[in-house]
Amino acid sequence: MMWKVILYCCLLTEAGRLPMVLAHQADVQLGSSVTLPCLDIKHTDITADLDIQWWTGEHLVTRFQLGKIIQGSRYINRTDLSTKRLRKGDFSLLITHTEYSDSGQYQCVLIKNGQSMTLGEVDLEVKVRRPQRALFIKSGQGVLLSCFGHVDWSGSEAAFVQWKRWTQVVVQWKSGSLFVDPMFEGRVSVLKDRIKHGDISLIFNDTRPDDQGYYVCFFKKNNDIRPAAVINLTVTENMSRITADSGSQIQLPLPNESQVSLSFLPDGGNLTVSVCEVERHLLTCTSHYTNRTLLHNTTLILTNITPPDSGTFIVRDRGTGRTRSVVIIQIFNVGTNKITFGISIIPIVAGVVILVVLSAFSGYCCHKIQKVSRSMERNRKKETEKETEMNLLQPTEVITHEATRSCNESAIIEI
Ligand SMILES: *[C@@H]1O[C@H](CO)[C@@H](O)[C@H](O)[C@H]1NC(C)=O
Ligand SMILES: *[C@@H]1O[C@H](CO)[C@@H](O)[C@H](O)[C@H]1NC(C)=O
Ligand SMILES: *[C@@H]1O[C@H](CO)[C@@H](O)[C@H](O)[C@H]1NC(C)=O
Ligand SMILES: *[C@@H]1O[C@H](CO)[C@@H](O)[C@H](O)[C@H]1NC(C)=O
Ligand SMILES: *[C@@H]1O[C@H](CO)[C@@H](O)[C@H](O)[C@H]1NC(C)=O
Ligand SMILES: *[C@@H]1O[C@H](CO)[C@@H](O)[C@H](O)[C@H]1NC(C)=O
Ligand SMILES: *[C@@H]1O[C@H](CO)[C@@H](O)[C@H](O)[C@H]1NC(C)=O
Ligand SMILES: *[C@@H]1O[C@H](CO)[C@@H](O)[C@H](O)[C@H]1NC(C)=O
Repeated sequence: MMWKVILYCCLLTEAGRLPMVLAHQADVQLGSSVTLPCLDIKHTDITADLDIQWWTGEHLVTRFQLGKIIQGSRYINRTDLSTKRLRKGDFSLLITHTEYSDSGQYQCVLIKNGQSMTLGEVDLEVKVRRPQRALFIKSGQGVLLSCFGHVDWSGSEAAFVQWKRWTQVVVQWKSGSLFVDPMFEGRVSVLKDRIKHGDISLIFNDTRPDDQGYYVCFFKKNNDIRPAAVINLTVTENMSRITADSGSQIQLPLPNESQVSLSFLPDGGNLTVSVCEVERHLLTCTSHYTNRTLLHNTTLILTNITPPDSGTFIVRDRGTGRTRSVVIIQIFNVGTNKITFGISIIPIVAGVVILVVLSAFSGYCCHKIQKVSRSMERNRKKETEKETEMNLLQPTEVITHEATRSCNESAIIEI
């Protein structure tokens, strides 16, 4: 057994094709760019008929062949292979505007003498921000409820994608056919060509107070229907923002109804807490609020506010359950503000001085860089003349361009 393995390796080495596959891991935030590394360990004999291919599963991502870059249909205008680096045996692939569906295993394959050789593998994970659990929106406005998933496909159609509000189906795609609940007709959509990219977000065109509720997105993956994002959507006719200083008081106008409840969702929190109930001008508050609240006609006054009071106050009609108003409050700590204002002049002056020194210095540096880059260019010209028979790649002018541009920029700073 052992002998066989060694012999196998020897044969491969003899043929110069030791399949030493390097596996990498890469993470990227949705929409950002990422470079998938791939180096030809030997980086020799890069010839004019270089054929390098990037694959993920069955899909071609990008191919460099006969000096041309070909992009797979899912990657049009989103990938790049640096021709300058290819020449040095660096076949790393840049993917821009990453989509959720870009997650997966990528292979970097070199084709040589009709034989393919996998040079590297990269596991790419595209990360999405955790969806907001609670969303507050003024009625009439649009809103996007985010949801992402690796959806099963049946042919060219998504197998199953659905949004529900409580138990009511809002919108659904099932093997190419679309269902929209009459209540949401013309107001919601889940775009078919976005599902392709793993984006099953619900686009709400125009919201109404009745749309309030829990929204859950479902999709079929590996033949299982599973829930993804859960969003508590609150739609209100009255939405306002208040900023106040710590220690002061805030006024929350209440509707004229006899039965009103007030609750609070702290910033960054995920649990709504009860604050007060108002019934026929009688105020009943939870212990944390009893000594800090008073009712003046139809205005609730909250005193001694502190930064932990920053968040969202929700006023509901207890009879109908409707959200009557939402007030988003941000409390600033006055004490620290004053102190920072007192000394803030010093860092500003220091900043200005540093900036002046830096801009003068960069002006000087730039001329140096230009000199260096001019001599580099002369050297490069000589080099390229030698290499023209290779006729593989364009000579690069990047360094000179950058030097010139940054000189112009520093000139602007100096003025
Ligand atoms: C790719 O870019 C070209 C040129 O900017 C543009 O004409 C084409 O529509 C783009 N294709 C896609 C699929 O975005
Ligand atoms: C959203 O509203 C615009 C007009 O305001 C309309 O053209 C568009 O079709 C609507 N989208 C959906 C999904 O209903
Ligand atoms: C969902 O939001 C409403 C405010 O509109 C709130 O009353 C309710 O408690 C929230 N649910 C949870 C579980 O936080
Ligand atoms: C609002 O409250 C006042 C008393 O504070 C009452 O006289 C008036 O009828 C109320 N209006 C409505 C529409 O309930
Ligand atoms: C709510 O937040 C707490 C920490 O603030 C966390 O432990 C808990 O898991 C969160 N609950 C949910 C449902 O996200
Ligand atoms: C509210 O104030 C009373 C006295 O004015 C005090 O006895 C009580 O402990 C206070 N409650 C809270 C929750 O601070
Ligand atoms: C609040 O109530 C007082 C009587 O308690 C009344 O004089 C005043 O006009 C009311 N203010 C408003 C804005 O309704
Ligand atoms: C909106 O709030 C104001 C007070 O801030 C109130 O007079 C008005 O009736 C509210 N509108 C609705 C639809 O609740």
